[in-house]
Amino acid sequence: MIQLIRGFKDILPGEVELWQAVEKIARELLEDFGFREIRIPIMERTELFARSIGEDTDIVEKEMYTFPDRKGDLITLRPEATASIVRSYIQHRLYATDPVQKFYTIGPMFRRERPQKGRYRQFYQINAEIFGVPSGLADVQLIFLLVTLFSRLQVPDVKAHINSLGCPKCRPKFKVALSEFLTSVSDKLCADCIRRKDRNPLRVLDCKVPACREAMAEAPSILDYLCSECDADFAEVKSMLKNLGVPFIVDKNLVRGLDYYARTTFEIQTESLGAQNAVAGGGRYDGLVGELGGPDIPATGFAIGFDRLTELTGLSADQFYRRPDIFVAALGDRSRLLAFEWLCLFGGEGIRAEMDFDGKSLKSQMKRADRLEAGHVLIVGDDEIKKGEAILRNMETKNQESVSLDNLVQNIKNKIKE
Ligand code: HAM
Repeated sequence: MIQLIRGFKDILPGEVELWQAVEKIARELLEDFGFREIRIPIMERTELFARSIGEDTDIVEKEMYTFPDRKGDLITLRPEATASIVRSYIQHRLYATDPVQKFYTIGPMFRRERPQKGRYRQFYQINAEIFGVPSGLADVQLIFLLVTLFSRLQVPDVKAHINSLGCPKCRPKFKVALSEFLTSVSDKLCADCIRRKDRNPLRVLDCKVPACREAMAEAPSILDYLCSECDADFAEVKSMLKNLGVPFIVDKNLVRGLDYYARTTFEIQTESLGAQNAVAGGGRYDGLVGELGGPDIPATGFAIGFDRLTELTGLSADQFYRRPDIFVAALGDRSRLLAFEWLCLFGGEGIRAEMDFDGKSLKSQMKRADRLEAGHVLIVGDDEIKKGEAILRNMETKNQESVSLDNLVQNIKNKIKE
């Protein structure tokens, strides 16, 4: 038997109802906050991700699904959505009438990571991006939106972790201090961090290896190196989060795994997912639109791990399963053909109907209706046809009544949608 690829998964009926409900709640909230949907392709030129996420990140170095197409151009299955949204914003000059634009997109992303609970090679994200607002208040709005969504979805134990990564004015000074520190502790670092030390020193700050954590305890903090503008911006973010009653933790080691960030970065973390503790992450990426060939327009955004969200929500798929409104139990060939006509008409009237096609006994049809949790059963046999009526049984109250065959579909619709 052919099985699915490692790290990929099916979302089956029985769980998909939860995905649909979570998606609906998220869409409604995003639209209430003024975000409009944008749909971007699953594949892009590899160069787009290499230039935006950064050549020296884990994602670009070792996790992308990259291959040449038939003409030899290198293409990549998107590992994230931000780069594509920025490309689209620039390509279609979406800034021309108003640089301030808010977009969201929901869909699959691909990263060839080592699969484990909460970590897949095809996973889904809910993304939101705000363009054209330089103020940290846009970052606050995003964090507030996330916290509101998680509360609506009954996600327990979530905490907002925030940090500022400074800007091209102040970050280089911090990098110099950090590199000096890393040289002084290099004999204590893991092999990955030795490599990161020169290529992407910031990433050493969030290494999870205990020995690295210990070695980094005395590392310099980016927050001590912020220029006055970045410092004031971060102070405003913190004070507005307090005003809005959003609990947060300032985490000076939160550096994120993508290179485009500046100033505020954030993650929503939980204790309930083991090692994969981030349900959502994001931050400001003011330089990216310019770096990808667009005008100098600031931006900020987040992505939620949709798979992780469905594992954490207090809602369950069962709450959203739509039971059949009616099961048509027919006895005899004539009745079965009539039942089939009704089945089709019911569907067209928004009434979810099921029937048995194999001429089984009434007892076995009633059993199936029970198993499907049908709200009503409509019973029709040759005797009923002669009398010009059918029997409608309410499966909850067990009441039975006769319904005329004239205009039956409308009559039933009126009765069961009461
Ligand atoms: P990210 O932190 O790489 O950020 O991913 C965001 C979220 O996607 C993570 O917090 C996690 O919940 C989920 N996620 C990531 N990888 C996996 C995986 N292998 N399996 C399951 N879930 C996963 C970004 O992607 C940025 N583009 C966010 C952003 C938007 N920044 C600005 N705008």
